[in-house]
Amino acid sequence: MAHTAAGAQLQIASHSGAEGGSGGGRSSVAPGPASDPVIVARSVTAGYENRRTKTRLIALRDVSLEIQRGEFLAIVGPSGCGKSTFINMVAGFVRPLEGTVEVDGQPVRGTGSDRAMVFQDYALLPWRTVERNVLFAMENRRNKPSKSEQAARVAEALSLVGLTGFEKAYPHELSGGMRQRVGIARALVTKPDILLMDEPFGAVDAMTREAMQAEFERIIAQTRQTVVFITHSIDEAVMLGDRVVVISNRPGTIKEVVDVDLPRPRLTGDAKGSLRFAELREHIWSLLQDEALGAQEAK
Ligand SMILES: Nc1ncnc2c1ncn2[C@@H]1O[C@H](COP(=O)(O)OP(=O)(O)O)[C@@H](O)[C@H]1O
Ligand SMILES: [Mg+2]
Repeated sequence: MAHTAAGAQLQIASHSGAEGGSGGGRSSVAPGPASDPVIVARSVTAGYENRRTKTRLIALRDVSLEIQRGEFLAIVGPSGCGKSTFINMVAGFVRPLEGTVEVDGQPVRGTGSDRAMVFQDYALLPWRTVERNVLFAMENRRNKPSKSEQAARVAEALSLVGLTGFEKAYPHELSGGMRQRVGIARALVTKPDILLMDEPFGAVDAMTREAMQAEFERIIAQTRQTVVFITHSIDEAVMLGDRVVVISNRPGTIKEVVDVDLPRPRLTGDAKGSLRFAELREHIWSLLQDEALGAQEAK
């Protein structure tokens, strides 16, 4: 299968890179300043006005968080707790009601080429081929590269997600997992510093999902992008995240930030069978269960 070949390539690439060292988390693999925050939320409250009923719904309350450069931050929390609202503020689609969200020291004022979003529902253009869907991300750029550079970038991004050979296919000809990889290629093609992912693997089946997690772990080891990754799956959060932020029921507040001290690569290793994985999973599960019970009591 195409993605297996690409996976092998990626693994070689990430092993032959300059990282050195085998054990430890990503932070020990990629030495850098101990604290180099790239996304900073300061006492952020966010919500939505309903003009018709003249009411305001508070989605998130007083959230403060620093995300380090090159970090993989996973976010879990009950449905409706404001996870998408948070990532949409970082993307520049939603503005905070109070507080600030900064990227690279500047308050976010809108979307920017330093950030790219991967959506759960793929958001592909059905009338465009795979390569033209990926190209789309570069079309409306101000400083877009030359046509040949664009073609080279599309080819590189498709190779990274294991879709070489499917350039001319249309979305309806692809499986769910492949469509989602087109969505990821589209986010990677502009080489953004920050990848924002809102339940990106939520719509793919369990087996494909594990394969995609493994590929994604390898891709990120290679590109070293900062990733903010929302998921419903505790396993996925622990397998992928350097830290897992657990958010409470709405209005969402940070309940706990859990450090994931499992060595990488995790998906191709035996992290999932380790005692530490089970402990982390259990801990996050109990935090979320409190929230589920809290929501019931509130009814
Ligand atoms: N565009 C919107 N307009 C009004 N309310 C919204 C909008 N988007 C989200 N909400 C509400 O804000 C709350 C948080 O939503 P969201 O951030 O999507 O949560 P999550 O992603 O954690 O499920 C929910 O109650 C949701 O109904
Ligand atoms: Mg959501």
